[in-house]
Amino acid sequence: MNFSKRIMNIKPSATLSISDKAKAMKAEGKPVLSFSAGEPDFKSPEAANSAAIEAIKRGESHYTPTPGIPELRAEVCRYYKNRFGLDYAPGQVTVAPGAKPLLYEAMQALVDEGDEVILFAPAWVSYVEQIHMAGGREKVIDTISTNLLPTKEKLIEAIGKKTVGIVINSPSNPTGAIYPAETLKMIADVAKENDLWIIFDEIYERLAYEPAKHVNILNAAPDVKDRVLLINGASKAFAMTGWRVGYALGPKELMAKMNTLQAHLTSNACSVAQWAALGALSGAEDDVEMMRREFAKRRRTMVDMLRDMPYVKVKEPEGAFYVFADIRSCPLPDDMEFCAKLLEDKYVAAVPGTAFFAPGFIRLSYACAMETIKEGMTRMKEFMESL
Ligand SMILES: Cc1ncc(COP(=O)(O)O)c(C=O)c1O
Repeated sequence: MNFSKRIMNIKPSATLSISDKAKAMKAEGKPVLSFSAGEPDFKSPEAANSAAIEAIKRGESHYTPTPGIPELRAEVCRYYKNRFGLDYAPGQVTVAPGAKPLLYEAMQALVDEGDEVILFAPAWVSYVEQIHMAGGREKVIDTISTNLLPTKEKLIEAIGKKTVGIVINSPSNPTGAIYPAETLKMIADVAKENDLWIIFDEIYERLAYEPAKHVNILNAAPDVKDRVLLINGASKAFAMTGWRVGYALGPKELMAKMNTLQAHLTSNACSVAQWAALGALSGAEDDVEMMRREFAKRRRTMVDMLRDMPYVKVKEPEGAFYVFADIRSCPLPDDMEFCAKLLEDKYVAAVPGTAFFAPGFIRLSYACAMETIKEGMTRMKEFMESL
């Protein structure tokens, strides 16, 4: 069978491959501890579960409007008004089976063959593949040497005739960095001067740890609202990864194009899951805060234990649930080999930084039990000492 060039050019998701490998080893009876997953280990909030059960009982089992049920879109607007003071109408909201399809739809709607999209590295694995799927090319700006934030000089230098847009992810997967208002304003000003759109992926916005605070780009630069697409969803904030509900807010014309594509792709997000997300958005604030506090404790433990190991350098992550550790000065600085050996020798699964355009780093998720973190970091310390 001959496969298309398009499919042959797509790389499998490195994060999913590692967690699949860890799961397979676990199934063989190996005592694997996985720090590779990008999902909260908590159960979904009761408000989500009961809303879903009610929806099933009412018979909410049909196609919904392509952009989502009106009740959920109205709730997303209320949420954005309350949380960020931003005014959006339900017609500017699209709900999809996760944030991933929304990002895909946005790339398809905004990127032409040969267009360039700016990514700030370390960058999450799916952006680049989705840019490629749209026929575009990534223009990667490394932020490792600039405190995980892009500088104006580097941004301006990266913009060429083919550049059409910029992707920002704050809080960041994999680094946990939160973009401050000044950086967001700088990027917004540059985007405006160069007529670029911005995708602002804030899927981890509920996971910010004091003293850091999440900033929505439109609070830092309200004048770019007509060129910004906000990406968010239920997965990370409400521990609802499996329900598959994401939402995007943006200019009406862009949302209309994304809806046209969605109508031919997924139709709508699962009807019952949409009701569950509505339940979560309107009644799970206490759960969100409970999970955030728990993540904050785990982050402290993981960072402190990593800092107690030889060769490892860690910058304090401000948000999300990942630590991005610098292993460049260890005797095994190749992150791919490092992760393979760590898994083989100590049954500890981490994701190589190469997957995020950052060789010499590894990503460790602390979305797992405190005992797992303590045991895993103890094993990793032994590993580092053995190198
Ligand atoms: C930065 C980022 N954006 C978007 C997503 C997609 O989330 P979902 O499709 O579950 O809504 C993820 C998931 O890992 C992510 O890390």
